[in-house]
Amino acid sequence: MSNPSLLILPGDGIGPEVMAEVRRIIDWFGDKRGLAFDVSEDLVGGAAYDKHGTPLHDDTMARAQEVDAVLLGAVGGPKYDVLDFSVKPERGLLRLRKEMDLYANLRPAQCFDALADFSSLKRDVVAGLDIMIVRELTSGIYFGEPRGIIEEGNERVGINTQRYTESEIDRVARSAFELAMKRGKKLCSMEKANVMESGILWREVVTEVGKDYPEVELSHMYADAGAMQLCRWPKQFDVIVTDNLFGDLLSDAAAMLTGSLGMLPSASLGAPMANGRPKALYEPVHGSAPDIAGQGKANPIACVLSFAMALRYSFDQGAEAERLEAAVNKVLADGVRTADLLGEEGVQPVSTSGMGDAILGA
Ligand code: NAI
Ligand code: MG
Repeated sequence: MSNPSLLILPGDGIGPEVMAEVRRIIDWFGDKRGLAFDVSEDLVGGAAYDKHGTPLHDDTMARAQEVDAVLLGAVGGPKYDVLDFSVKPERGLLRLRKEMDLYANLRPAQCFDALADFSSLKRDVVAGLDIMIVRELTSGIYFGEPRGIIEEGNERVGINTQRYTESEIDRVARSAFELAMKRGKKLCSMEKANVMESGILWREVVTEVGKDYPEVELSHMYADAGAMQLCRWPKQFDVIVTDNLFGDLLSDAAAMLTGSLGMLPSASLGAPMANGRPKALYEPVHGSAPDIAGQGKANPIACVLSFAMALRYSFDQGAEAERLEAAVNKVLADGVRTADLLGEEGVQPVSTSGMGDAILGA
């Protein structure tokens, strides 16, 4: 059987810097763990625009559709601010998400012990936290029709429509149940079925899908109560599934329970391919960080943890993902810090590659 395939798109700014460390880690898995990938690398964002006049070349798009997983760094930068909207670096990323139809956005909130004091919450509340928010990404109020600003009588009216079809709810619910099966087998679905019909349907369909996953303990919560519970005692959750709008807010809030932007990975998953693996794009939550680009200061951990997610969710290598996460945990426990993680006095920051060295060493 051929090796699983991985398309790497480093992008712009610190994207290539953090991705270089991930490449070393990928090679390590090939050398030391017999886990070889068929890796190809290509351009996206401003880098693609510079070469091809478009932020995502058609050949790159076609390759992304074929591979088992795409790993992306970051796109954008001040150099491209003057470009027309249609060729802005971000359009490359949006095209990938849209054409791969990546409807389930996975945002973990995970607390590494050594960074528990970074949180705005008490150590007890966040230490050991490991939850996953699944946000529906391709429908809901950001896309529903009718929309717009209209004149009505003698005033303006702003309109957006929350609209979910049964199949849209069904497919994201299935992604969430599949994830729950690979994790703690607990799923909490959040909507506002008390005041929204789309929420009533959401609850019904998630409950129906749940019949196919009897091992997963399913609960439902109103999204506003969920927001409170996330701040009060987040460790009660394992996987949370919610719609596009609530997921936008809840995933950002949950991410900040644990601290730095330089630590946050993400995944966007679509329908299962012929080989059973979901279409998948893994990327750090952060952007291209032009303020520190080219200086070797970027924290590669968000990108490294995005690869760990790929190991777990695309390649069924949960134990290897844990190995990588444990290495990150050890490095942090040893006090190794990039500049963005400095809190304690007298600690000298390591460079991007210094952090890569430390993770490989661990
Ligand atoms: P940003 O995430 O690039 O940076 C925000 C702040 O966090 C900066 O001070 C940066 O230095 C710091 N930071 C981010 N990642 C870091 C890391 N790995 N290590 C250490 N520090 C880190 O967001 P910003 O400044 O709003 O956007 C910059 C550019 O990135 C823009 O062109 C924006 O459009 C683009 N962007 C791209 C995204 C993507 O590719 N998914 C997401 C967000 C922004
Ligand atoms: Mg947001």
